[in-house]
Amino acid sequence: MTSEQKQLVKDTVPVLKEHGVLLTSHFYARMFQYNPELKNIFNMGNQQNSKQQTALAMAVLMYAEHIEDPSVLLPMVDGIGQKHTSLDIRPEHYDIVGRHLIASIKEVLGIAASVELLDAWTVAYNQLASLMSGREKELYKKHNEQKGGWSGWRPFVVKQKVVESTEITSFYLYPADGGSVESHLPGQYISLRLFLPELQLLQPRQYSISCKSNSEYYRISVKKEVGSKHPDGMISNRLHNHITEGSIVELSAPAGTFILNESTLAHKVFIRGVLDRRRFCR
Ligand SMILES: Cc1cc2nc3c(=O)[nH]c(=O)nc-3n(C[C@H](O)[C@H](O)[C@H](O)COP(=O)(O)OP(=O)(O)OC[C@H]3O[C@@H](n4cnc5c(N)ncnc54)[C@H](O)[C@@H]3O)c2cc1C
Ligand code: HEM
Repeated sequence: MTSEQKQLVKDTVPVLKEHGVLLTSHFYARMFQYNPELKNIFNMGNQQNSKQQTALAMAVLMYAEHIEDPSVLLPMVDGIGQKHTSLDIRPEHYDIVGRHLIASIKEVLGIAASVELLDAWTVAYNQLASLMSGREKELYKKHNEQKGGWSGWRPFVVKQKVVESTEITSFYLYPADGGSVESHLPGQYISLRLFLPELQLLQPRQYSISCKSNSEYYRISVKKEVGSKHPDGMISNRLHNHITEGSIVELSAPAGTFILNESTLAHKVFIRGVLDRRRFCR
């Protein structure tokens, strides 16, 4: 990237930030119009209730702000990489996102979007995409090399469904291929994917693993999200109401860096919610 290109990118950040909501909604509408298959990857619940909707575009803008020293953003790249790999996001997806993001910048900026400016943004995006997909490639490789590990989606059978309380039900998930599972650290989550007939889409959600690491199964404990003013949560209600013992769900490998450091356990305070502590991590 030339220093002129870096300056052009930095100069546009304030105006794009100011129109952040417009940019984000334009970007998502455009992407889902031209590439509707991506609706199977994104959380369409988030799209409706606007949670997280701005995360992707805002992270790109933050990167643009630090274009002189992108290393500042390395911890962020790591965290996003965990989420991305748990959703099976691959390099080809970066090309699609890049195309729609640059086109959205052009459409939002209007006549202010010169060819030089859009070229500079394309170089900047490609640089970030290559940094991120490079890190994600390493994470996929690590999963593939672990005992019981895998990358992408793997079918699991619900062997046991245990009602813990009026709101929470636990699901014991064993690999449908009869193999072993990758170990996990306390605090890590899996992504679970189900087909939703009402949307005619696959939809992923994240659930913390609520059992001790073992080579046979994962347990997740899911709160039924009942909407009093809004529609009920889609996946949690499908899990509670339609997924039974013997059903198949798809999981990605354990992810997440928000983990319990067991060496400093003595200083931690645990606050119990709806699950009985004796049942947690047995
Ligand atoms: C790292 C991580 C770990 C997690 N671990 C757990 C866990 O261990 N257990 C657990 O139960 N959950 C966990 N979650 C949350 C989980 O991933 C899901 O978000 C949750 O189950 C709700 O998904 P859903 O499909 O049922 O709801 P969605 O359909 O995604 O809806 C989300 C919420 O929005 C409301 N809503 C729906 N439509 C609208 C609207 N139009 N306007 C406003 N609100 C609306 C719904 O009622 C619901 O409460 C975790 C999330 C993350 C990111
Ligand atoms: C340079 C490009 C990208 C940046 C900066 C970026 C940034 C982010 C950020 C900050 C999050 C939130 C992370 C979290 O919650 O922990 C996120 C989540 C996510 N990203 Fe990306 N991302 C990029 C590319 C992509 C691509 C190529 C795809 C796939 C098409 C993608 C799909 C998702 C999905 C599905 C989520 C989860 C949130 C949701 O479902 O709405 N991202 N990304």
